[in-house]
Amino acid sequence: MQQLFPGEVFAKTADFDTGIRQLLPRYDEMLAVITHCLPVTTHRILELGCGTGELSLKILQRFPDAQVIALDYSPRMLQFAETKITAAGYQHRWTGMEADFGEWADNSSKLGIGSEFDACVSSLAIHHLDDQMKLKLFQQIATSLTQGGYFWNADPVLPESPTLAEVYKAAREEWASQQGVPLTEVRAKLGTSSTQGYSSQDQLATLETHLHMLTASGFKTVTVPWKYYGLAVFGGSR
Ligand SMILES: C[S@@+](CC[C@H](N)C(=O)[O-])C[C@H]1O[C@@H](n2cnc3c(N)ncnc32)[C@H](O)[C@@H]1O
Repeated sequence: MQQLFPGEVFAKTADFDTGIRQLLPRYDEMLAVITHCLPVTTHRILELGCGTGELSLKILQRFPDAQVIALDYSPRMLQFAETKITAAGYQHRWTGMEADFGEWADNSSKLGIGSEFDACVSSLAIHHLDDQMKLKLFQQIATSLTQGGYFWNADPVLPESPTLAEVYKAAREEWASQQGVPLTEVRAKLGTSSTQGYSSQDQLATLETHLHMLTASGFKTVTVPWKYYGLAVFGGSR
């Protein structure tokens, strides 16, 4: 079986959009929170780990003048995103780039995407970096935003205790069973991944650790607009 890159999740890319909604509680609501927390004046947006383009689509729909630069290291996911964005008629406002956001954190000039972004967004991707790289990435994002620009990230967080780990696991299992598809059927579609570039399998940090890292990176109004068991949307402004 083909090894996936961390974060691709499903053996077949075409299974991602349906499968992620069966596996993760409130996926669409979580992405919508990110779009609703961006100021109406947001124009130039950087997305990290765009996957099949679901967050890009929501942003392009909500902000008719926005331009999105979307990074993902997986050519399979990017191709899927591009097809979808083109079908929606947004191709002139969206640029997909095959790149590792860890590499961008290490050397931002290499990609030539510049800085002065009004916002940076990400969902379900940054938790593949170790904590040292997460901090480096948050610092890079902070220096790449305009004054007052926002960064919002949706990611799973490390449960705060073993008891809560059980609670969060049960919540995900209950959600999956409510979707009417046996979890075993969804899990049968998962692929296996090995380390790729800066990313490995899940490297979760607690929400508190993330918030400390954001503050240490120079973000203000660091906050958590949404949390559902072990999933959270968090970030701040420059
Ligand atoms: C679980 S998917 C989420 C995709 C999308 N953001 C969403 O919410 O549907 C994670 C994505 O992050 C990408 N990814 C993970 N680590 C990355 C890295 N270091 N650089 C670029 N992309 C990465 C994967 O290829 C994958 O497309």
